[in-house]
Amino acid sequence: MDTISETVTIKLPTFHPEQVRAFRTTASWDYVALRAGRRWGKNVYGETTASDHIARGMTVGWFAPEYKRLSETYENIAQMIEPVKTRSKQGEVIRTMTDGRVDFWSLEDENAGRGRKYHLIVIDEAAFGKKKILRETWERSIKPTLVDYAGRALVMSNTNGIDPDDFFYSICHDPLLGFRQFHAPTRSNPFLPLRKPTEPFELWVARRRAYFDRLRADTPPLVYEQEYKAEFVDWSGASFFALDTLLVRAGDGSMQPADLPAKCDAVFAVIDTATKTGKDNDGTGVTYFAFVRHGLTYNVIVLDWDLQQIEGALLETWLPTIFQNLEHYAKACRARSGSVGAFIEDKASGMVLLQQAARRGWPATPIDSKLTSLGKDERAISVSGYVYRGLVKLSRKAFDKVVTYKGTTRNHLRGQVVGFRIGSKNEQREDDLTDCFCYGVALALGNNEGF
Ligand SMILES: Nc1ncnc2c1ncn2[C@@H]1O[C@H](COP(=O)(O)OP(=O)(O)OP(=O)(O)O)[C@@H](O)[C@H]1O
Ligand SMILES: [Mg+2]
Repeated sequence: MDTISETVTIKLPTFHPEQVRAFRTTASWDYVALRAGRRWGKNVYGETTASDHIARGMTVGWFAPEYKRLSETYENIAQMIEPVKTRSKQGEVIRTMTDGRVDFWSLEDENAGRGRKYHLIVIDEAAFGKKKILRETWERSIKPTLVDYAGRALVMSNTNGIDPDDFFYSICHDPLLGFRQFHAPTRSNPFLPLRKPTEPFELWVARRRAYFDRLRADTPPLVYEQEYKAEFVDWSGASFFALDTLLVRAGDGSMQPADLPAKCDAVFAVIDTATKTGKDNDGTGVTYFAFVRHGLTYNVIVLDWDLQQIEGALLETWLPTIFQNLEHYAKACRARSGSVGAFIEDKASGMVLLQQAARRGWPATPIDSKLTSLGKDERAISVSGYVYRGLVKLSRKAFDKVVTYKGTTRNHLRGQVVGFRIGSKNEQREDDLTDCFCYGVALALGNNEGF
């Protein structure tokens, strides 16, 4: 009988030297914890490893804490193994002509992986996701998928605080779980920042050094330790947004709130309507900001805020007052582009506000899902550099204001923002104004610094 054999070549990315070192070091380990800083190349590493397996006819289970983290990986793997790809289902499975397959699982699904057998499982962003991965999920759902083939596990993540209940923290600390770890900081990705096509090598090396030096200087030290060095950071003691960074130094050396800007580029508001308990009388926070440009630099001033318990029905009469206040601040701060309106989270009662505003032609914009889909801690970390560099200031009004909310009279903005703690497990903590604050800073400064 004739057999027809065909050679198909697929081209996988070439690992950078530190990825090569990770590959060699971990080659004989069954369970690998890859603890690496932001942008180190975890995805390139995991996706290349998975593609190599399925091209050789093996089965792979790819897990992420949430569905939204799977789609990019699906596309990358589909592209890498294109010449051998057969039937696939967007975001769910890719098969190869060599009988390999990769299944994509979100760990939001409690039954993820059940009933399957894998040569390799990969967990991406293991320490993240709104619901943390627990050791039980590994023991009960994922580990059993490796028994048939005595398969291997590659668990990749950056660090996310100290939490003995968290799976990723545990596999890096508790040898009984059977993992060994490979640790790599961001800086060991030699491709970052990407070299420009015609840039001479020496100039690029100098730019790279200067870039990392500045990144280090501009990032709060604990954030740098966590995000770029992938160290496990203890956040419990530290006030995350230090009050002093939100104030300006007066002539006598004391730290004082900022004056209202005499001129600015735009004013805007961020509204956060909490729906924690699902009751109508949950808190609704609003924070007003001025966006100020000085030459090539920008900053943000928190002008004012409010926190109220408003019944659903009364939100209708409350919303117009936000736009009136914005007009007031646009005049008071001589905003060149005037008020650019209110930014509102597109869920629950926020959706109602957006609809109301749309009906009446008021400028209200849903906050980009890239921001709203992050966890509170991730969002706070993502804006922390701007605050640390002193680009965000409180006005005297925002600093002095006192409001009675749920029976407590105080400056809730300061209380919440300066009182904010990373990794807090207190579900009851009030943080609507912290959310407004982080959204406002991200909206004004987050996207290449400037609207
Ligand atoms: N082997 C490689 N060859 C070329 N570029 C690479 C390689 N590894 C990583 N990169 C580049 O480095 C950057 C970060 O890669 P990747 O997204 O895989 O990192 P990550 O660790 O998953 O990042 P994040 O922390 O954002 O999840 C990308 O621009 C990627 O193309
Ligand atoms: Mg990644």
